[in-house]
Amino acid sequence: MAAKVTGQSVKGQTVKKGDWKVTMTPDDLYRNPMEIAWTFNYDFGKGKVEDLYKRAKQNQWDSDELLPWDTKVDPSNPLITDRSSMYHKMPFFHRLSKTQRETFIAHSTAQLLSQFLHGEQGALMTAACVTHSVPDTAAKYYAATQTMDEARHVEVYSKYCDKIAMIYPMSPWLKTLIDTTLKSDRYEKVMIGMNMIVEGLALGAFNNMYHSTTCPLLKAITFNVMRDESRHVSFGHVYLGPVIKKLKEAEREELAEFAFDAINIIVQATMKDGAQGLASRVDAGFLEVLENSGIDQNDFFKGMQEAADAGLMQELPPGQIHSLKDLMLPALARVGLITPRVRKKYEEIGIPVTEDLHILHAMEGGAPQLMAAE
Ligand SMILES: [Fe+2]
Ligand SMILES: [Fe+2]
Repeated sequence: MAAKVTGQSVKGQTVKKGDWKVTMTPDDLYRNPMEIAWTFNYDFGKGKVEDLYKRAKQNQWDSDELLPWDTKVDPSNPLITDRSSMYHKMPFFHRLSKTQRETFIAHSTAQLLSQFLHGEQGALMTAACVTHSVPDTAAKYYAATQTMDEARHVEVYSKYCDKIAMIYPMSPWLKTLIDTTLKSDRYEKVMIGMNMIVEGLALGAFNNMYHSTTCPLLKAITFNVMRDESRHVSFGHVYLGPVIKKLKEAEREELAEFAFDAINIIVQATMKDGAQGLASRVDAGFLEVLENSGIDQNDFFKGMQEAADAGLMQELPPGQIHSLKDLMLPALARVGLITPRVRKKYEEIGIPVTEDLHILHAMEGGAPQLMAAE
């Protein structure tokens, strides 16, 4: 079993297991300024949110019954295929020893799965927050189903991390992104931060993991989690879209600005200064991945920069999608959150706004169409 951090504050706690160690994110406690909204109009209509709620009820699942937990998982065998890993595109990577390569892939995959786990905990809290702050009965019902979904997602990724006996701390940018969402003062911001941005990020990452993994248990977990996430992304559209349309311009600008700031957290941490996703110099967890794999961090980042300069890191592996370009930005544009003013800000940070909805349409609604792997 992986050593896990539980209970009281554990500042700087080091988790050791065999020849690897990590420093876990300390437990955290804070207050948020959110209002609580009672509503005494219990009418349950026939709208899209009601429809989503019905589908959420019908598609609940019990992970104990549905998933093949007795699958043998050997974490020393890579859980993902070589061709789906961006690291295999780096000439530097192929100069490492076989042991270093295998250890690195095992640990970097564990680090990614740990982000799924920690991110799901954040989603659990944001969904609960929407339940008590949204002023609409059907939306409260729906957010309650999402809260249950997210609890199940924390449960399944926690059990899987136990199975591979490896866990990594939460990436600081992901924590900042979810904290920014949870500390906001309006339920609309919580839904933008979670249902449009974090869940767009997650849906893309889950799709890519589904295509990458060779582990049947992880494939089954990810497929079922994606079905739930695909409903969650729809909720951001079908409920919040009409709400945003009715807002005054200044309020819509405030939300557009909030969305930009949240996207900018992701862009600065994962796409700038030579970072490629979780492979970032400013992520202490990733540096521990390198340490645990016996790889010098300066050599690694130099190798990654060389591969990027040679144009080797741009194309996504087959079947993989780009969360920002294919899911998050189109979702924000669709509900009117890319105003002319913030569009300029996206351009300033080098992010062209993409509005093509076809991948988003394919992935949302509760029955994601998996992108073809070939
Ligand atoms: Fe989730
Ligand atoms: Fe979700």
